[in-house]
Amino acid sequence: MRLVVEQNQALSREPRTILVTGGAGFIGSNFVHYWCQQYPGDRIVVLDALTYAGNRNNLAGLEGWANLRFVQGDICDRPLIDALLQEEGIDILAHFAAESHVDRSILGPDAFVRTNVIGTFTLLEAFRQYWLTNGQPTHFRFHHVSTDEVYGSLNPNDPGFSETTPYAPNSPYSASKAGSDHLVRAYYHTYGLPTLMTNCSNNYGPYHFPEKLIPLMCINILMGKGLPVYGDGQNIRDWLYVEDHCSAIDAVLHRGKPGETYNIGGNNEVKNIDLVHKLCELMDELATDLPVRPAHKLITFVKDRPGHDRRYAIDATKLRTEIGWTPAETVESGLRKTVQWYLTHRNWWQPLLSPEYQAYYKQVYTSV
Ligand code: NAD
Ligand code: DAU
Repeated sequence: MRLVVEQNQALSREPRTILVTGGAGFIGSNFVHYWCQQYPGDRIVVLDALTYAGNRNNLAGLEGWANLRFVQGDICDRPLIDALLQEEGIDILAHFAAESHVDRSILGPDAFVRTNVIGTFTLLEAFRQYWLTNGQPTHFRFHHVSTDEVYGSLNPNDPGFSETTPYAPNSPYSASKAGSDHLVRAYYHTYGLPTLMTNCSNNYGPYHFPEKLIPLMCINILMGKGLPVYGDGQNIRDWLYVEDHCSAIDAVLHRGKPGETYNIGGNNEVKNIDLVHKLCELMDELATDLPVRPAHKLITFVKDRPGHDRRYAIDATKLRTEIGWTPAETVESGLRKTVQWYLTHRNWWQPLLSPEYQAYYKQVYTSV
């Protein structure tokens, strides 16, 4: 039987207490910075396992923030989640923690199923129990951060993904995210748990781990290393500056309807090869010490990613019309900021090029 819950009660007023899973990763840490700026009265509890992708330095500048607590732990650890929800009196669970890199999911899918499926299930069950124990407060929210990759791949003239596009995940990563999305959907429909879900396009910006396309290209240009473009470089991604993703989640948390899904994107479709050329031009312009100039001389086509999705594009009409959100950055302004950030934050990314990372790099880019 579907439970009937009051859906029109808004998020409670400040101060609120938010549990941010994966808050030491790329988007999660940007969200923590964003939220501390926007709502300094709220308390934030970051739960992060600090996998290879998690980094305490991503929260630099917030060490003295009295309302911030960092807990190193695993989202699959049910007793830990139960204790945190209870002792902190959590109102909002913002769930970013995941294994997030497609290439790693091809090399080793196990961790993806564990964290993305079992971990999300563990959080849902813990949150449901906690919500029931507290009398099913209507202002509680479980916000699941997901991806456009669950919708699969588009042909050149297809319309962008909407919230009703059928799921068709193609990689172990996207399949595990699709599994977690289905669980979130089921917890609303079966139990009435006040869930929200957002499916966002490709993000970029500060604190992006070096393995992903944009930071990898920026770092390799600065080091004079080859720029490995998969296949023919004609694959298309729809890019969104990470702070715009954070503001969209904020808008959905405040104005979204429980049980609903909202797609997030900024209408910025770019072919990979064009994006890499753009990064080269920006580096030629902004960097004074490039080992190879012009940087595009470093571009190398390498063997394609297995099962490589050809095109992603988001139709964010629902978010725009129902929630009133629009992005602040264009791809030009966002890329410029990002290149500047990698230029001025070498102390952040240099330690990440560890022997473990080099071994991973060698495994993926054997033909570079
Ligand atoms: P990321 O890999 O940079 O960060 C993931 C974080 O989760 C890390 O800090 C890691 O330590 C933590 N983590 C991993 N396993 C954990 C576990 N078992 N318990 C606790 N913490 C764990 O990822 P990201 O790019 O910041 O992505 C965040 C979320 O946004 C993910 O759910 C991802 O699917 C989604 N997303 C990402 C993008 C993108 O372009 N990066 C776009 C849309 C959606
Ligand atoms: O669409 C949202 C997704 O975007 C998120 O859910 C994922 O967590 C995130 O990693 C990202 O997935 P992609 O696979 O699209 O991102 P990535 O940066 O790995 O690759 C972007 C494109 O660039 C893709 O077409 C593959 C290509 N690429 C990537 C790398 C790392 C290359 O050509 N060369 C490379 O070295």
